[in-house]
Amino acid sequence: MDRLKGLILSGGKGTRLRPITFTSAKQLVPVANRPVLFYGIEAMARAGIEEIGIIIAPETGEEIREAAGDGSQFGVRITYIVQDEPAGLAHAVLTAEPFLGTDPFVMYLGDNLLQGGIADLVEAFRAGEPDALILLTPVPDPEHYGVAELEDGRVVRLQEKPPEPKTDLALVGVYMFTAQIHDAARAIEPSARGELEITDAIQWLVDQGRRVEPHVVQGWWKDTGRLEDMLEANRLVLDTIERRVDGELIDATVDGRVVVEAGAVLERATVRGPAIIGAGARITDAYIGPYSAIGPDCVVERAEVEHAILLEKSSVRDLDARMESSLLGREVRIGRSLGQPRAYRFLVGDRSEIGIA
Ligand code: TTP
Repeated sequence: MDRLKGLILSGGKGTRLRPITFTSAKQLVPVANRPVLFYGIEAMARAGIEEIGIIIAPETGEEIREAAGDGSQFGVRITYIVQDEPAGLAHAVLTAEPFLGTDPFVMYLGDNLLQGGIADLVEAFRAGEPDALILLTPVPDPEHYGVAELEDGRVVRLQEKPPEPKTDLALVGVYMFTAQIHDAARAIEPSARGELEITDAIQWLVDQGRRVEPHVVQGWWKDTGRLEDMLEANRLVLDTIERRVDGELIDATVDGRVVVEAGAVLERATVRGPAIIGAGARITDAYIGPYSAIGPDCVVERAEVEHAILLEKSSVRDLDARMESSLLGREVRIGRSLGQPRAYRFLVGDRSEIGIA
């Protein structure tokens, strides 16, 4: 088989993660303090893929370029491909055609996380040489996913969010294609939502009598497109970290699997793992509970935080109640205004969400 390339889709609108995605790419939201996107790049690197194309949107592309660079930090070569509008996953494939040429490739949705990586998938593809290989996982609510029907070890039908799914096998955001997918993407029409759907392109291959094989994933898979999924992904990844305390502890207690990066200072604080505290963070007179990822240069003072993701330079101060199940963007400040009548004061961007009990 020809050499295998990688294609990571990191464009899109990210509407479900607003307001975070008004100013930033959702693929850069950190899971255990590392951008989601990096897990995909690393999975490809570990599977022996050296040449990766990343689809970016005009609005958020620059930030993604800055974060992932030329790929040398991962031991791969990255080419950036601008998709002018988010016209669908199959449209992204067509946009990448000049980069992909006639090579087979792995396509990976940049906001997806796959625990087991993709090495076994790549092996199955190389061994069986199908025309396409799709990754599937059983889910309790298949009506919310692309769903596959199988017959004799082959995929015979794909449906996008069917009201009455025939199986519980959802499409995971990782696919392996040969160059035939370009013909498929050219042959299909936009769907009702106006996008060139990858499920339609794969169905076209099936209808042309091509061999589309399923591969059921081992381990968990997460699409981080919504807040709850992002927090869940953070939880799953934090569950795998090893304890490492490089920062400074002053009268502080650090229980269980906790990473405290160098330059972080914990003073009269308790951190209960699994949790990660980024470089330069200051945690003072505070409690950080399980499944928290506190970004670099964050401040938590006289407050309790649990099951939350704080992006860099955010601060949480003087809260009466524990802050939990929350995602704070960069440089967010939450605190109490002293010396005023007891009242809430907000400066909040569009589509923010605040819950007060
Ligand atoms: P989605 O999460 O399906 O779409 P989206 O990013 O537009 O998000 P939302 O539904 O919240 O508005 O996309 C999956 C991945 O593919 C994600 O990393 C974005 C990327 N993508 C592209 O690169 N180009 C596209 O045209 C589309 C639709 C998605």
